Amino acid sequence: MQAVKLAVARVRSGGPIAACCPENDDLPFGDRWVSPIRHGRLLPSSEASAENDFLAVAARTDLAFQQCIAPACRATFSVDEVLTSCPSCGSLLDVEYDWDRLRPPNSFEFFERKWMRRSDPLAFSGVWRFHELLPFAPRESVVTIGEGQTMCPPSDGVAAYTGVRPGRLFLQYEGLNPSGSFKDNGMSAAFTHARMIGARRAACASTGNTSASLAVYCAVTRLMRGIIFIGSGKISYGKLSQALDYGALTIQIAGDFDDAMARVKEVSGKLGIYLVNSVNPFRLEGQKTIMFRVLESLGWEPPDWIVVPGGNLGNSSAFGKAFAELRKIGLIDRVPRLAVINAAGANTLHELYTRRGLRWEGGRADLAPACHYYDELDRENRRADTIASAIEINRPVNLTKCLRALEVCDGVVREVSEQEILDAKAQVGAGGLGCEPASAASVAGAKKLVAEGVIGRDERVVCILTGHQLKDPTATVAYHTTDQKLFNDVLGARGVSRASYANRAVSVSNQLDEIVQAIDLYG
Ligand code: F0G
Repeated sequence: MQAVKLAVARVRSGGPIAACCPENDDLPFGDRWVSPIRHGRLLPSSEASAENDFLAVAARTDLAFQQCIAPACRATFSVDEVLTSCPSCGSLLDVEYDWDRLRPPNSFEFFERKWMRRSDPLAFSGVWRFHELLPFAPRESVVTIGEGQTMCPPSDGVAAYTGVRPGRLFLQYEGLNPSGSFKDNGMSAAFTHARMIGARRAACASTGNTSASLAVYCAVTRLMRGIIFIGSGKISYGKLSQALDYGALTIQIAGDFDDAMARVKEVSGKLGIYLVNSVNPFRLEGQKTIMFRVLESLGWEPPDWIVVPGGNLGNSSAFGKAFAELRKIGLIDRVPRLAVINAAGANTLHELYTRRGLRWEGGRADLAPACHYYDELDRENRRADTIASAIEINRPVNLTKCLRALEVCDGVVREVSEQEILDAKAQVGAGGLGCEPASAASVAGAKKLVAEGVIGRDERVVCILTGHQLKDPTATVAYHTTDQKLFNDVLGARGVSRASYANRAVSVSNQLDEIVQAIDLYG
C-alpha cells in the first residue's frame, strides 16, 4: 500500500507541479520557489505572494512516504498522516523516499554552492541546505529559525585526553543551535511537517532540551501552542528557564522522563496534539543533517568513527539512516563506525546490546531480551539516575532503530561513569567549546574505546557535543567549586570522588595587595 496522493498545487499559472521546474519535473521543489519564511518569521500569505511571483507547490507524496521499519510489515503511509508508530504492527516508522525518481544531487558540491546564497533562509539553515536529502516537504512549508549553524573543529586538547593523535579528533558542536542543543535540527523538520498538516498544538516529554527547542520554535514562529511534559525535579535550570521564558505550557508530572514519555503519548493521542518527540519520524530527518554537516566540515571524507551519547536513541538512529541513504544514492562509498555511549546510570542500550547480545539482525531481532529487561526494571523499581540528566532514560523509544543503525555502521556501545563524564566535560570546557554533562559522555566513551584498542590512535574520530555548556551550570559549578558541601551534595552523592581538572576560584579579601599577590601566584 504505497501512498500515491498528488498534493494540490497552487501556482501562478494554476498549472501542474512540473510547470514550476521544467529542468527536472520529478523534483518536488526547486530553487526558484521562494519560501514565505524569513528567518523564523512567517510571512502572511498576501506578503508572501507579493514578494514572490507565485506561491509554491506541495510535495508529491508518492515520492516521500512513511514506512514501517519492520521488514515483515513494510506498510506505507502518506506523509500527510500523523503517526508515531505503524498502525498495522506497532513498529517505528521511517520517512522514505523514491530516490530513483527524485534524482538527488550526485555530488556534494551542489550543497556547497548553496552557501553562496545564504541570504535565502533555506540555504542559510544547516538543515535545509540539505533539503534534497530530506525532501518530504515543499519549500513553502519549510520552517526554519536559522538552526544548524554549527561546526566541527579539531580539538588537540581532547585528542590528547582521549589518546588519539593530534589532528584526529573533532568536536561537532551542536551547542551553537538557537536553543543551544542539537534538538533544533529535528524540531525544524517536525515543525515543517506540522505546518504541512496544519497542526495547532505540539507536545513533548523531555529531559529539558526537546522542551527548550519546542518552546523556541513555538515562540518564534507562532505556529503552534507548545505543551511540555517534564519529570519533577529532573531537568536542569538552564533548560527549564528556556521553556518558561519562551512561554510553553509546562506540565511537571510526579515521575521521571520515562513516565512523562508514556503520559505524553496517551495525552497527544487523546487530544490530537502533534507529538514532537523522536518517535516522530520527521524529527529524525532533521537530525540526519548533523552528519551531513560533519561530512561537509571534513571535506566530504567520512571519518572513521562517530561517537554520540545515547538517551532516547534518536540521534544514533538518524545518523545510521543518513549514512545508509548517502551510500544508497552514491554520495559516499564508506560508512563510519558508530559508538553510542550510555551513562552507567541509564544504560539500557549497553545492557541489551553489549551484555545480552541484542541485535537488529536485518530486522528479525527477537526483542524478548528487551521485554525481560524492562520487566526487571519494573519489578525492582529501578529508575534511571545520572548527573547527565539529558540522557537519564531507561526506556529509549528508538531502541529498534538504533539497533539498525548499529548494524549499518558496525557499531559498538559503551557505558561511562559519572566521574568519567565530568572529567571529560572539564576537558571539553578547557578547550573553550563547553558542553553539558550528557554531551561529554561521547568524549568519555571515545577515551574508553581508545584505551580498549577499539578506536585506533590514528583514526579520525568525531565526538558529537549535543548541548551547550550553559544548559547545566549546576554540574559545572559543583565540579569546579571549593565548597566541599556543594561538591558532596551535587557530585559526591553520585559517586564522584575527585575533580582532577577543576579550575577553582581563588578567594581573597577586599585588599589590593592580596589581590595582586594572588594574581602573581596563580596568574
Ligand atoms: N544529549 C543531549 C544534550 C540531550 O538533550 C539528549 C536527549 C541526548 C544527548 C540524547 O539524545 O535521545 O537522540 O539519544 N534529550 C532528550 C530531551 C531526551 O528530552 O531533551 P538521543
